[in-house]
Amino acid sequence: MGDALGVIGGGQLGRYFVLAAQAMGYRAVVLEPDPQSPAGAVADEHIVAQYDDPDALAQLADLCRAVTIEFENPSVAALELLERKIVVRPSSTAVAIAQDRRSEKRFCIETGLAVAPFAIVETIGDITAAAAQNLFPGIIKTAGLGYDGKGQQRIDHAAQLADAFVELGSVPCVLELLMPLDAELSVVVARGCDGEIAMFAATHNVHINGILDASTAPYADDQVAREAQATAVLIAERLNYVGVLGVEFFVSNGKLLVNELAPRPHNSGHWTLNAARTSQFEQQVHTLVGTPLGDSAMTQPAVAMVNLLGDRWQYGELQTDSARMNPRAHLHLYGKRAARPGRKMGHLTVVGDRAAEVSAAAHQLRDDITPSA
Ligand SMILES: Nc1ncnc2c1ncn2[C@@H]1O[C@H](COP(=O)(O)OP(=O)(O)O)[C@@H](O)[C@H]1O
Ligand SMILES: [Mg+2]
Repeated sequence: MGDALGVIGGGQLGRYFVLAAQAMGYRAVVLEPDPQSPAGAVADEHIVAQYDDPDALAQLADLCRAVTIEFENPSVAALELLERKIVVRPSSTAVAIAQDRRSEKRFCIETGLAVAPFAIVETIGDITAAAAQNLFPGIIKTAGLGYDGKGQQRIDHAAQLADAFVELGSVPCVLELLMPLDAELSVVVARGCDGEIAMFAATHNVHINGILDASTAPYADDQVAREAQATAVLIAERLNYVGVLGVEFFVSNGKLLVNELAPRPHNSGHWTLNAARTSQFEQQVHTLVGTPLGDSAMTQPAVAMVNLLGDRWQYGELQTDSARMNPRAHLHLYGKRAARPGRKMGHLTVVGDRAAEVSAAAHQLRDDITPSA
């Protein structure tokens, strides 16, 4: 049993971790309550239980030599419990910081990194003080459990703040100033247990309604890309991070701001499956086991990735032929059954020589395969 690796979470990131682990000679165990999850479907073993179920965690620890995560919200207590028995990467300490926007921002400030102006709203009693900071128009975000723009509301006036806070469940939140964005980018970095760093090319990201829509690498502005990469390394080192870390950035008025940290591989790094010597998921396996990191260099001059959200299934199944016939395109489907709007069902990657051209081709191909009314 010594060669099994575990992952908490059964989504598409977990699925690619499982596939990478298996291709590298390991067995893979998934802990995920949904019996029909993307990762569970390909795992050697699928423990169908809640992420914090003590019996399931004990079973995971018995079966595996090391455990990682594929989403940022497993309970810190569950990770601590596992850490007493086996290797857990990233550590519960790093995950605790990344899963709470308050600690994430505190950490960035302590590390000397710029973030968007913000206020913390933990109780309704904090509203007046937060409103006085005049962060409008702004976005109120729950401190924990948000993803793909969920748990967020735009606030135009101070008067809307209290209602929005209550609507979000009266849980701890941060209120951020809505920043004018020149661009968004991200960096995925892998850090090994000996401090070894492998970094992927910085990636340009476009979000629609708070959900990643399209990514292109390498990021066109070399100077910004290098600054973002250096920042991601600094963050990983300060967190004493072991694993794969995604760092999201804003460029606002020419200035680089840290948006958020993802303590796991990142959607914007999916292109590494088809256009890097080693994918972000292979690096995740290396960091988990303690083997030397792979070469993260790109194998193509440019790559674009577009997400396939459930909305595209509105008029039926995708008509995938044109994507499958295109030698520069790679179609990925995660095997999810219900195509709900906003749900990430798959993605499409196109490789080529120039960023603008692969990006246009990926968007065109996505439209071509989407059935219309
Ligand atoms: N303060 C902000 N100013 C401008 N745009 C923002 C701000 N916060 C979030 N956004 C937009 O919403 C997207 C999702 O927000 P983010 O905080 O990254 O949440 P999630 O955890 O859902 O990814 C961002 O990538 C960006 O496009
Ligand atoms: Mg984000």
